[in-house]
Amino acid sequence: MPNRMEITRERIKVLFSEEQIAKRIKALGQQITQDYAGLDSPLHMVCVLKGSVHFYSQLLLDIDMDVSYSFIQVASYKGTQSSGRINVKSWIDEPVQGKNVIVIEDILDTGQTLKYILNYLSRYKPATLEVATLVDKYEKDHYGIIPKYVGFQSQDRFLLGYGLDFEQKFRNLPFIGYVEG
Ligand code: IMP
Ligand code: MG
Repeated sequence: MPNRMEITRERIKVLFSEEQIAKRIKALGQQITQDYAGLDSPLHMVCVLKGSVHFYSQLLLDIDMDVSYSFIQVASYKGTQSSGRINVKSWIDEPVQGKNVIVIEDILDTGQTLKYILNYLSRYKPATLEVATLVDKYEKDHYGIIPKYVGFQSQDRFLLGYGLDFEQKFRNLPFIGYVEG
């Protein structure tokens, strides 16, 4: 484990490059367009702030059909360890009943945050409720949540960039990286 207090931009190594990310998100956008274009219910995309901001905005530009937007902000992560508490800071402002809803996550780690979000959203009776995550830490079981769309699989290590932060830093790196311990 690196001492994360000493993380500097120079120490961060590229895991998924800007080009790889752009290409992968484009493919996901095409896949979602194919999967949902023929359906009657409208498509509604929920951005889980703040980490999903770049993934969300690029993915929606890569979807070639009408889609409505909403934003959720919850906090569950303190430093590099999941704190186990979920704090809802803001919630969806659109009705989602009868809609095809996709929740957009930056990274699926324990799945605790998403489990909470999905649990609450399902009470509004969406037509369908799915998850797209940019990164899936595949070694974890995520409380049984199976994301329909996954950008990249990663082993269980701490990642930074393209929205992912350490104490609110490094979100604006255009790639996803890690620090070698
Ligand atoms: P979970 O509830 O444990 O699945 O984690 C939820 C949130 O923790 C994610 O949406 C991220 O904001 C954050 N997180 C989890 N793993 C990482 C990581 O490797 N780097 C940065 N943030 C992470
Ligand atoms: Mg975070």
